[in-house]
Amino acid sequence: MSLVLTSLCRTESTVCRHSTAFTRAFSSNTSKKRFRSSSHQETKQFRWKLAAAASGAVVGMVTYNYIQNKPDLTFLRKSVQAKSDPVYSSADVAQHADKQSGIWVTYQDSVYDITGFVESHPGGEKILMGAGGPIDAFWNMYAVHKTPEVLQILEQYRIGKLSRRDQKAINLNDPFANEPFRLPVLRINSQKPFNAEPPLEVLTDSFITPNELFYVRNHLPVPDFDLENFKLEVLVGGRKLALSVDEIKKKYKPVTITTTIQCAGNRRQEMSQYQNVKGLTWGACAIGTARWTGVRLRDILLDAGFDLNDNRFKHIQFNGNDKDITKSSYGGSIPKHKAMSIDGDVIIAYKMNGVDIPRDHGYPLRVIVPGYVGARNVKWLHQVVASDEESSSHWQRNDYKVFSPSTTFETADYKKAQSIQEMPVISAISTPAEGSKVESDDGVIEVKGYAWSGGGRDIIRVDVSADGGKTWKEANLVKDKPGADDSTHSWAWSLWNAEVEVTPGKKTEIVCKAIDSAYNCQPEFIGPIWNLRGFLTNAWHRISVEVEDDE
Ligand code: MTE
Repeated sequence: MSLVLTSLCRTESTVCRHSTAFTRAFSSNTSKKRFRSSSHQETKQFRWKLAAAASGAVVGMVTYNYIQNKPDLTFLRKSVQAKSDPVYSSADVAQHADKQSGIWVTYQDSVYDITGFVESHPGGEKILMGAGGPIDAFWNMYAVHKTPEVLQILEQYRIGKLSRRDQKAINLNDPFANEPFRLPVLRINSQKPFNAEPPLEVLTDSFITPNELFYVRNHLPVPDFDLENFKLEVLVGGRKLALSVDEIKKKYKPVTITTTIQCAGNRRQEMSQYQNVKGLTWGACAIGTARWTGVRLRDILLDAGFDLNDNRFKHIQFNGNDKDITKSSYGGSIPKHKAMSIDGDVIIAYKMNGVDIPRDHGYPLRVIVPGYVGARNVKWLHQVVASDEESSSHWQRNDYKVFSPSTTFETADYKKAQSIQEMPVISAISTPAEGSKVESDDGVIEVKGYAWSGGGRDIIRVDVSADGGKTWKEANLVKDKPGADDSTHSWAWSLWNAEVEVTPGKKTEIVCKAIDSAYNCQPEFIGPIWNLRGFLTNAWHRISVEVEDDE
């Protein structure tokens, strides 16, 4: 069912729309079903009454389960299930795989008739891929969408249970079975696909973020690679260049670029505290800085026959090797001017901080697009295509776009909105921690953090306030070593520290804001930049601490 809801559209935005459609579909479906056998009708009514009575408890339990990331419908079912629940075999279910015979699916131990949804929602092959069989694997793939709402919608379509024998026989075929090891210290935002960030208090301890502590943002399972048979495909017009990793290393000049990569959802938690948004609740650590070694994308494209004067090509598209259940891969694109510019520093990287890129971060090849949103730094790169249009990937066309605060999922026009590319200026306080008690040294405390801007714009100043923004102290900026690599612009963050005066025994609001080399500064409040997907939260960062009394 998650397949039904998510593979059609994959954004939580559309899930939301589909949930409504789903509910609508259900109501129209109930009227159609009114003339079915009365025992079926009674069983349904019985389930509904019980469900209504138990709804409060159930919602709580679903939420708990969801938080625990082990969505399990058993408890829900117990509360709504009549003893005489019909039992179906996999063979029964398989006979209902088209609109004529009705569309049935199984999930865990239950059987669902989703014909009503499909009827009112001609969503194409993706829905029908689940027809007549288990959808567990699909839902594992899109586990991030296993929300309580979706689970509840699914329950409305339940018609009985799957025979015990067939339950055992179903191979869940978990696409996440071969994920890499991750440090337990990472704060997990979603387990499948894996999304996690390091603790804020360690993030700014070093200019270069250690690989193991670099945030992970995966939309799909981490793919396996057969390096021996792998070739990167580069398509320019009718020409195709195929390169093994070794050939890439030997043929082109290696360069090292130090860049900060930040997810568009960084600091989304704050935006969702202001007003609910759809998306993973990232804290302030979906950002990190690494030295990436590889070869210039420009060199490869020119070698593949790219003609800088050929105006047919306006975008360079990238496809990863991580695939969803329909075998379509994660993808994204960047404009030609960035890809081909001599000082755009876009590289196809094979090393991250001096070692092979770890599996979570794109082994063996990844495109690094300095100064651009994390989403375009496509991992597990297997194809580069010169094109007249942006990538057709869901993540380029229907995600990673920002709307006005008044835009709703119903009014959002994804075709019209601009894709996020260059990133705006941002900063955050890493120490002290939000809500902590701090000791002052003669009425002074040390505040630390990071600041970064996209587009290669350097950070020229960070201001820190210990009175909610009335007065400011300029922070000391800690930058990369001069000439540390081949970068032509300031792609990496600045770390900063400041000593600010505080009054012991008082609750204090500490605030920071950064200014970049184009004199862009951060907005004061979240309200005017609020957007339904919670992207680009870059308002002044504010934390509250209690300054302990000296005595
Ligand atoms: N590339 C592929 N192939 N698949 C993905 O899910 N996620 C993107 C980008 N590249 C992604 C991808 C997003 S949204 C971000 S923010 C960065 O990778 C995260 O990179 P990291 O996991 O190395 O920190």
